[in-house]
Amino acid sequence: MPLVTTSKMFEKSMKEGYAIGAFNVNNMEIIQAIVDAAARQKSPVILQASSSAIKYARVNYLMKMVEAAVEEHPEVPIAIHLDHGPDFETCKMCIDAGFTSVMIDGSKYDFEENVAITKKVVEYAHQKGVVVEAELGKLAGVEDEVNVDAKDAIYTDPDQAKEFVERTGCDSLAIAIGTSHGAYKFKGEAKLRFDILKQVKEKIPNTPIVLHGASTVIPELVQMCNEYGGDIPGAKGVPDEMLNEASKSGVSKINVDTDLRLAMTASIRKVFAEDPGAFDPRKYLTPARDLISQAVEHKIKDVFGSSNKID
Ligand code: G3H
Ligand code: 13P
Ligand code: ZN
Repeated sequence: MPLVTTSKMFEKSMKEGYAIGAFNVNNMEIIQAIVDAAARQKSPVILQASSSAIKYARVNYLMKMVEAAVEEHPEVPIAIHLDHGPDFETCKMCIDAGFTSVMIDGSKYDFEENVAITKKVVEYAHQKGVVVEAELGKLAGVEDEVNVDAKDAIYTDPDQAKEFVERTGCDSLAIAIGTSHGAYKFKGEAKLRFDILKQVKEKIPNTPIVLHGASTVIPELVQMCNEYGGDIPGAKGVPDEMLNEASKSGVSKINVDTDLRLAMTASIRKVFAEDPGAFDPRKYLTPARDLISQAVEHKIKDVFGSSNKID
């Protein structure tokens, strides 16, 4: 099948109570690792690229690699999504390049400005058959040029969420319930506001909900990085059990980037630590690709619950 939007994926996910993984990509190995894992698990999958990832990989290379993945796995529903679109122009560029879904991240603006920019993107995207994710509330952490301090993070207001979706016509909504981007999500105990998620679902039951900053920060991978020369102390993510609960409680899309970065880095560090003479990229990128694929497969199968969800 050709590239798809997320509409059908989310419809089924909301009906059956599971989430679809949205994995950040910026090179061939990562794309192959993710799509191979989705194929093994017979799961739909979302590949997503931030604007800095697009700058790095270049949009044409990215699209051609995604097209290759689609050709290799015609049985897997694959969507290609712009992650954290910063402005209308970037969203338009991606839509024109063949993305099937875009996010306009207006969370840095006030409510009215967020509504206005989201509406503008929705109008253009829908005309081209592309779906739009928007964000309401502020996550703590670092993403592209935006760095939000934990004290400035703001949970999503369920009433505002209803008004926002009605006024913008966005297709899915990213909400802030305590997750954050990067490897340092919690200082003490991990805590998510499931009460807010529940209220949001009550207000907008038919809108797919998205969770950003949702990496587990897999402890084994952090340990592996540190064991082989890394220095990532005190890293902490969202435990698998919480993500599993979110998947069953109305979250349709779960974003993962940090865990993929950790898998790649841990694996490459191990090869170099064990064989300082290694200099063939295939020698360190092959195990890196395998480890990423393993991590993605675990999430799909044991955490998000999207295995065997292809019609
Ligand atoms: O949410 C942010 C993603 O992890 C993308 O990060 O802007 O460094 O590509 P990036
Ligand atoms: P993590 O940093 O938790 O992987 O979140 C990724 C993300 O939200 C991409 O948009
Ligand atoms: Zn994000």
